[in-house]
Amino acid sequence: MADGFKGQCAVVTGAATGIGEATARELARRGAMVGVMDINADGVARVTDAIRKDGGNAFTCVADLLSWDSTNKVISDAHRSNGRLDIVVHSAGGFPKYVNLIDCPIDAWDGVIDSNLRSMFYLLKAAAPLMIAAKYGRFVALSSMAARSGVNPNPPHYTAAKGGMLALTRQAALDLGKHGITVNAVAPANVLTPRTLGMRSPERIAHIEKTTPVGRLSTPDEIAAAVVFLCSPEASYVTGVTMDVNGGATMI
Ligand SMILES: NC(=O)c1ccc[n+]([C@@H]2O[C@H](COP(=O)([O-])OP(=O)(O)OC[C@H]3O[C@@H](n4cnc5c(N)ncnc54)[C@H](O)[C@@H]3O)[C@@H](O)[C@H]2O)c1
Repeated sequence: MADGFKGQCAVVTGAATGIGEATARELARRGAMVGVMDINADGVARVTDAIRKDGGNAFTCVADLLSWDSTNKVISDAHRSNGRLDIVVHSAGGFPKYVNLIDCPIDAWDGVIDSNLRSMFYLLKAAAPLMIAAKYGRFVALSSMAARSGVNPNPPHYTAAKGGMLALTRQAALDLGKHGITVNAVAPANVLTPRTLGMRSPERIAHIEKTTPVGRLSTPDEIAAAVVFLCSPEASYVTGVTMDVNGGATMI
């Protein structure tokens, strides 16, 4: 798959940092033209420049995924300016801070559900007609181990949003499969991104290392590798699945 994406166009959301950035860089390294999509304009500019400096092709997409108009415009502009849209990876989302069920503020619930799940619906709604017309597409959503197991402490809006993303993945796979479009999810556990490290105490990190069979957190590149496989032409018969990339922390 060294240049397995040559000629293809991908849009990666949440690409200003973390897993989205690693995925955008890897798709570009393997030949794709990559739309670096995020609400963080500085991060978008930084990652786009870095891809170009490495010899790859990228373009900037600054948009708020909470707006249907903004999301639809970014997706249709990417398609129009490149003549195609083969891949959408949805990595934007996450949650701003830990909160338990009873203390979870009402507006925090809406914010996390919307930035993870409503945004996924918008992306599918915008991209699927374009992919149907081309009879080809790959959609990969970043869910989380939070949606696979109730064992670890996670906020309620986040687990619900990530669980909803898995259900939507299956429904979209069912609807779009006959059009040559696959829809899959990747469920990471604890990834060494700036956000993860900022939110977890050294004691919590040590506990995660102790309770993970491979004995460590993952790098963003290890998650991107799984995402990139699901984006590839080779993954043509894989759809509606959740790929757990968690070092064995949860085995289903
Ligand atoms: N990092 C982890 O340990 C981990 C573990 C499991 C799952 N995940 C999931 O993987 C994905 C990526 O995680 P990460 O840690 O790299 O993310 P992150 O929090 O570092 O980055 C998320 C990006 O999404 C962007 N974003 C948020 N809301 C947006 C909006 N409305 N419009 C446009 N962009 C928006 C942010 O600006 C940010 O750049 C997330 O969905 C997260 O829930 C991460």
